[in-house]
Amino acid sequence: MLKTADIEKTADDFSRILECDMSLAPFSSFRIGGIARRLYRPADIAETHALTASLGGENFRILGGGTNVLFASPVIAEPIVVVPRATTWRVIERTEGRVLVEADAGLPMSVLVNETASRGLAGLEVMAGVPGTVGGALVMNAGGRHGTIADAVESVRVLNGTGETTIPATEIEFAYRRSSLKGEMIGAARFALAPRASEAVRERMRAIVDEKRASQPLGARCAGCVFHNPPGISAGGLIDEAGLKGAACGDAAVSEVHANFIVNRGRASAADVLALIDKIRGEVGRRFGITLETEIEIW
Ligand code: EPU
Repeated sequence: MLKTADIEKTADDFSRILECDMSLAPFSSFRIGGIARRLYRPADIAETHALTASLGGENFRILGGGTNVLFASPVIAEPIVVVPRATTWRVIERTEGRVLVEADAGLPMSVLVNETASRGLAGLEVMAGVPGTVGGALVMNAGGRHGTIADAVESVRVLNGTGETTIPATEIEFAYRRSSLKGEMIGAARFALAPRASEAVRERMRAIVDEKRASQPLGARCAGCVFHNPPGISAGGLIDEAGLKGAACGDAAVSEVHANFIVNRGRASAADVLALIDKIRGEVGRRFGITLETEIEIW
């Protein structure tokens, strides 16, 4: 629990968890990044809370797993707060046909998906193969063809200046790769799962991962789908049809596996990725008259 003494600390009291002029490359699944002037790495939620309170009115950015972001600026001056990594989740309540589990925002999605499946808890299999953390997945309403994280959310706890607020799922707006949680510092979330035979849950999860493995460059240095699908159309399909698979700017290349993924083949810079994004948008615009919008965040 938070202590008032912690909340009253000033930003200077957090020098222990502050890294100055830190390369952001290791914090991005692209492995590309400029410099963060001030990168804070709180150890846990309580410290995150105290830190964000101490930053007062100063704008800061929240960084989760870094699996959907391109650090394009050579220098980011605004403080960045890295969501503390979590390793565990817990069962909160078991009732007939429903098991409520809770995970901190910094828990890797894969841990939650694999471990709940092993315990025979169904509901998160659609998130199998989705990288990143629980918090990031909620903000982005991550998911795939079979559903999104929104389908299993019961409530989300967000930190505010003086405490925490629990937002029931019914009060959160979830849309295509977007939610009203954007900009909130998420502490934890609860998911309503269903008890099932563990083998059945794991089987469904495996099928979804296999499907992904066949159609996406899983494990590559990339940030998932780069562009939103225009309504009713696959951005990857358009880029593929435009003949852009394998197209490259420096070491940034359109994946040969799925054309809506840009992969860093080695030493790609942010400028390479941006140039490739421009090239793709230009070509798709010219051929199909469709303007692709980026899904990844560009910082
Ligand atoms: N297609 C091609 N060439 C390609 C890629 C796709 O022809 O290079 C075709 C496929 O054959 C298929 C159609 O386009 O007929 C749709 O492709 P796919 O099923 O792979 O789905 P998608 O619409 O490209 C969406 C999400 C993915 C999610 C998959 C699977 C977006 C932008 N993408 O991709 O989400 O994993 O469905 O569920 O919504 C992400 O958001 O980062 C992401 C990867």
